[in-house]
Amino acid sequence: MKPNVVQQLEEKRRAARLGGGQGKIDKQHERGKLSARERLEILLDPDSFEEYGMFVEHRCDDFGMDKHNIPGDGVVTGQGTINGRLVFVYSQDFTVHGGSMSEANAKKICHIMDMAMKVGAPVIGLNDSGGARIQEGVGSLGGYGEIFQRNVLSSGVVPQLSLIMGPCAGGAVYSPALTDFTFMINGSSYMFVTGPDVVKTVTHEDVSQEELGGAHTHITKTGVADKAFDNDIDALLQTRRLFNFLPLSNREEAPQRFTEDPADRLDLELNTLVPDNPNKPYDMMELISRVVDEGDFFEIKQEYARNIIVGFGRMDGRTVGFVANQPMILAGCLDIDASVKAARFIRFCDAFNIPIVTFVDVPGFLPGVSQEHNGIIRHGAKLLYAYAEATVPKITVVTRKAYGGAYIVMNSRHLRGDINYAWANAEIAVMGAEGAAKILYRGLSPEEVKEKEAEYKAKFNTPFAAAARGFIDDVIRPQNTRWRICRALSLLENKQSETPWKKHDNLPL
Ligand code: HXC
Repeated sequence: MKPNVVQQLEEKRRAARLGGGQGKIDKQHERGKLSARERLEILLDPDSFEEYGMFVEHRCDDFGMDKHNIPGDGVVTGQGTINGRLVFVYSQDFTVHGGSMSEANAKKICHIMDMAMKVGAPVIGLNDSGGARIQEGVGSLGGYGEIFQRNVLSSGVVPQLSLIMGPCAGGAVYSPALTDFTFMINGSSYMFVTGPDVVKTVTHEDVSQEELGGAHTHITKTGVADKAFDNDIDALLQTRRLFNFLPLSNREEAPQRFTEDPADRLDLELNTLVPDNPNKPYDMMELISRVVDEGDFFEIKQEYARNIIVGFGRMDGRTVGFVANQPMILAGCLDIDASVKAARFIRFCDAFNIPIVTFVDVPGFLPGVSQEHNGIIRHGAKLLYAYAEATVPKITVVTRKAYGGAYIVMNSRHLRGDINYAWANAEIAVMGAEGAAKILYRGLSPEEVKEKEAEYKAKFNTPFAAAARGFIDDVIRPQNTRWRICRALSLLENKQSETPWKKHDNLPL
């Protein structure tokens, strides 16, 4: 190759790497944000990144744009590895026209999404953008549309992760919303369809950017985001951690990791986890962290609908999705938010061959006018639907209460639960003994009702009535939970389960 060609190549690369220039990179740093390329350096294994489309330029001549053409056009795209496993990435560069989406940079993103589908690897998008490039008009809108379409086609085929690391406004929020997991950064990222100024004009409400669509809002109130972190570095490192739990595509199994934690480890402490008083709460998180390999649990949406816990752990080295009622919050009742949160998680696990383990301690669906009027019937149905349609290995352990409709919903045998255990103190019944006796013996004196309550308790508030019907496969001691689950998972490794042919289902929405 002629020396001047090499020089030209190097110059072009240098220009592209500098994005909007050192001044703008410094400005990113002043705001506590990393540049698009620095982010990729942390996300990916060292020297694993191969960039595509470094020399792509926009073709817009309007509004002086012909004089502002920076190679790469505001998004860095390519592939690399995380712990040696392939991943496709894009990282919007806020230093180039505010990371705004042009027709050309949308094409770059679409290209890596197409590649990811062809070879079967996840896509991680680092979002930091002022939205549609205003100078380009409809061209950039078309670009967004092309990305949305690919998000939908990729859904359930390759895992898609979004990090919101700056502004994400207008229709741009819908790409992250279509992906599987979304992380945000406290204080430097926000997502909304219309910003505070438009809100003020239309509804006369005064609201800050942070309050309207900051990380705290989305992890606690809306559930749009799954997790928030204090800075870019934390978010990127935790993304690597999540990635390690996931398979590359729906054609693959999740990676198996060597563990020194014995599959048959007993845990005597679990025998005293559940208090004798059935109305006293205990922390379900303790059970999960005692049961998973090395106590390593990656919780999803931990600030949202805290009455249910979902997240990934490993059992004997293999990834498992855990769903568990949390008696510490709302006594573990299922409400609208908990149903939707768990349903979405279960559907992810099912799409990506990840077995589901369910720990049940649920007194029922949450009563109340607000729940009923906001559609607990419709939303609760989502959870029921998600469990019923899932064909991955499904194991349930009832630790205490499993009452009424919530008993059925929480991966009961009736919804194709493969192996259903109950701890010896579990109560599987239509309702608690106190409520049952009050309804059945309304006319009797309080003393007589108490007597009937004891009778009901002895008959139904045990695991044995359910076990007698085969709804529970075995009544186990809490200390044995880990090894029983590990053994069940190994048994179910080659599980096959059929679903009738259909174009697609009609999930209640
Ligand atoms: C072109 C943009 C841009 C955009 C920012 N810039 N957004 N250029 N198109 N959408 C440019 C700015 O002109 C500026 O250029 C540089 O990026 C940095 O922007 P600043 O305003 O200086 O930064 P900051 O103060 O941090 O404010 C960031 C911001 C603000 C809040 C994002 O720039 C902003 O409000 N931008 C417009 C947002 C917007 O309305 N976008 C369209 C939304 S509608 P210079 O050259 O000065 O450095 C939409 C529809 C999508 O996106 C629909 C999909 C279906």
